[in-house]
Amino acid sequence: MSTTDYSPLLDSFRFASGISLKNRVVMAPMTNFSSNEEGEVTGPELEYYIRRSKGVGMVITACVYVTRGGKGFPGEFGADRDELIPSLRQLADAIKGEGAKAVLQIFHGGRQSPPALLLDGQTVSASDVPAELPGGGHGPVPRALTGEEIEGIIADFAAATRRAIEAGFDGVEIHGANGYLLQQFFSPHSNTRDDRWGGDLQKRLAFPLAVLRAVKDAVKSHAASPFLVGYRFSPEEPETPGITMAETFALVDALKEEGLDYLHVSLQELWSLPRRGTDDSRPRIEQIVDRAGSGLPVIGVGSLYTADDALKGLDSGISLVALGRPLLIEPDFVQKIAEGRAGEIETELDLSAQSALVIPDPLWGALIHTGGWIPTKG
Ligand SMILES: Cc1cc2nc3c(=O)[nH]c(=O)nc-3n(C[C@H](O)[C@H](O)[C@H](O)COP(=O)(O)O)c2cc1C
Repeated sequence: MSTTDYSPLLDSFRFASGISLKNRVVMAPMTNFSSNEEGEVTGPELEYYIRRSKGVGMVITACVYVTRGGKGFPGEFGADRDELIPSLRQLADAIKGEGAKAVLQIFHGGRQSPPALLLDGQTVSASDVPAELPGGGHGPVPRALTGEEIEGIIADFAAATRRAIEAGFDGVEIHGANGYLLQQFFSPHSNTRDDRWGGDLQKRLAFPLAVLRAVKDAVKSHAASPFLVGYRFSPEEPETPGITMAETFALVDALKEEGLDYLHVSLQELWSLPRRGTDDSRPRIEQIVDRAGSGLPVIGVGSLYTADDALKGLDSGISLVALGRPLLIEPDFVQKIAEGRAGEIETELDLSAQSALVIPDPLWGALIHTGGWIPTKG
């Protein structure tokens, strides 16, 4: 029996917009590759969410495309047309039925979309700059979006938000992280435009901020009760030029100025250190929490596999701890803490437990075939 007091993880939390969570643990957004070709969620996918929505206070869904041209993954679900509202409602109901708040992550893949998934095989981005691949070489060359197309995508984010509201979600998270379209506009690596959507830092901020404004307007027009708006971003890019900590602080300032419910910092390791753009050597997350200041909650994530990892995560100043892979491995993470069984939390994927863990085949296949993605047992 552990003597550690994990109760700070179990404290309730209230967002400024009025939505309350029963505890401080959030399911991180994770693509599961299991929706059908029409972009509808499937039964195995619903079961997967139900298995993980009992303990946590809030579930952020896998990313959903707001327009077909932004589909980024096979088996990704859609929020790009009204016919998909019943599918979205099934997902919201599945999550809320277990007691967690349900937040839909809204997304456009930009130059990171696999061309084979797109109807015309052509990726788009801020500019015609391909992504640098980690192993060397580069990805497909995207087509630079026209001004009219950019306005269209902003409207797509707003329409997806309206659909999320109509489907009964408690909020949306704008996916501005992990190198996808919003980040491509903010990054000096991928945005070389010289119109109102690119150029100096302020102009590179224009698209992400326009999306946020459109999403907030949709909430104002369509939500009859409190509805969360969050924004996820990655703090730094390895490329030169690329997003630095200094630029990330400017993004945080701008988002704060616009007003929203939370920031979500996308990290593989919560305690990772800055690369450049700050003289402060403290972990990135602590610096971002400081910059966000009081009144703007920050969600942190990244390799928090044990109850002690999650508890210590709160020391960084974050308001909420998100768990991705840890909840794939251990769907009862929060329940075990609440029941005084924190020591029994599994920290490695049991390769013989797919059905007990309720992980759909496409996600299971991706996890076990992608070396190093998730710790495995034995
Ligand atoms: C299978 C898988 C799918 C993911 N899909 C998404 C996604 O759709 N949107 C997103 O913002 N991050 C996605 N991520 C990143 C996670 O949200 C998280 O930031 C990352 O896994 C680190 O946290 P963890 O150590 O708790 O897993 C994904 C991660 C995994 C493992």
